[in-house]
Formats: sequence, C-alpha cells, structure tokens
Amino acid sequence: GFGEGRAFAFPLDVTKEDQWIYALEEADAAMGGISVLVNNAGISRGGDIEQLSLDDWRLVMSVNVDSVFLGTKHALRYMRQNQPGSIVNVSSIAGLIAAHNSPAYNASKAAVWLLSKGIALHCAKQGLDIRSNSIHPTFIDTPILDPLRQRFGKQEAEAKLARQIPLGRIGEPADVANLVVYLASDESRFMTGAELKLDGGISAM
Ligand SMILES: NC(=O)c1ccc[n+]([C@@H]2O[C@H](COP(=O)([O-])OP(=O)(O)OC[C@H]3O[C@@H](n4cnc5c(N)ncnc54)[C@H](O)[C@@H]3O)[C@@H](O)[C@H]2O)c1
Repeated sequence: GFGEGRAFAFPLDVTKEDQWIYALEEADAAMGGISVLVNNAGISRGGDIEQLSLDDWRLVMSVNVDSVFLGTKHALRYMRQNQPGSIVNVSSIAGLIAAHNSPAYNASKAAVWLLSKGIALHCAKQGLDIRSNSIHPTFIDTPILDPLRQRFGKQEAEAKLARQIPLGRIGEPADVANLVVYLASDESRFMTGAELKLDGGISAM
C-alpha cells in the first residue's frame, strides 16, 4: 500500500563516502533493513578523446563508477543482515558498445559492467544470497537527453535516436523500472553476474 511511512528519501552526493555511510545508516533505521541497492546516478559529458577535459573525465568516472564502488562497499554491511538481497547497477548499452565521442561515458559504464560481476562473485564466495547484475539501456526518455534535444530540437533529436533502434523508438523510464523490479525481486533469484541489455535490438545488429 501507499501512504506515510512507506517511502523514504535521503539525498546524498554519491561520490562522497561519508554521505553514503550516513544515508545508508539512516535508510536502514527508517526501513528496518536494506535488501536492495540500485545504483542509478549517472552523468555524461560530451567531447571526443582530444576535446574532453581531464576535469570532465574525472567527474564522469567519479559519479558513474565511484558511486557503485562506495554504495556497494557500505551497503553490504546492512544487506548481509537482510538476505536475500539484490544489487542492480545501471550501466548502459554504451558500456558494451563504443562511440567516437563519449570516451568517459563508455569507459565508466564498461567499468560498472565488470564491477558488477566482481561484486556478484564476491557475494557468492562469501556464501551470501545477494545478487549483483548490471543493466544496459539504450536511449531512454529522460533529461539526460536534453543536450541533444537542445542541439537538434526535440522532435528531430528523438527521431534521430529512434532511427538507430530496431524497435523504432526510444525507451521509456517504465521500461527500465520494470527490469529493475525483476532484478530486485526473488523472480530473478538464480541470476547473478549477468548483464541485461534493454536496447530495442541495437546490439543484435
Ligand atoms: N536516459 C538514457 O538514455 C540512459 C541510457 C542508458 C543508461 N542511462 C543511465 O541511467 C541512469 C539514470 O539516468 P537518467 O537517464 O535518469 O538521467 P538523469 O540526468 O535524468 O538523471 C541522473 C540523476 O543522477 C543524479 N546525480 C548526478 N550526479 C549525482 C551525484 N554526484 N550524487 C547523487 N546523484 C547524482 C542527478 O541528480 C539525476 O537525478 C544513469 O546512470 C545513466 O547513465 C541512461
């Protein structure tokens, strides 16, 4: 059911270890335990390898990769008290397929891909019933696409993206949410260390 006491929010900067420690402690207390961690925060910065600044490279790596490292490192302490558990790391199809103009995004999302597997193996070796998987969406209708919409206009930008996707459209947030719900639930209890593509068929080509 919905209503007061059913959902809690604890804002944090995912690149900051002390903020993770505080937020997880608060979340654990508020919810009476933690069994699911979804590492979703992520950013992109444009520019090819010659244009991208070191500052932007470091920013993307820290938001996209440090976040998964820190969140998982500190959440496991609580999750092991609340098994079964599931960690869902939001990578991207860009973590499996490169482009000429997104070196930091590609590298960071590829790091999330293999980090997820390492976490899965660590948990398994520890005898924990805690799974870790990565998901790899293609373009989804969220504000992350705004720079492109500004550049080409909303309609043309979305049509440009849709043309690259066999299913002929960009994805919706609900498409991602449904996959996260599956991975968070016991319906996926035998799946760990997997990478799930949610790409409308792009990578089948
Ligand atoms: N939309 C897409 O096309 C697409 C495709 C593949 C993967 N992804 C990934 O999906 C995830 C969600 O992205 P989105 O599409 O909703 O984009 P978005 O820009 O709408 O949301 C990103 C969120 O990350 C948060 N964030 C950024 N830096 C943060 C920090 N230091 N600490 C805490 N939060 C921070 C922002 O506040 C924002 O709410 C990201 O990891 C993104 O890389 C998106």
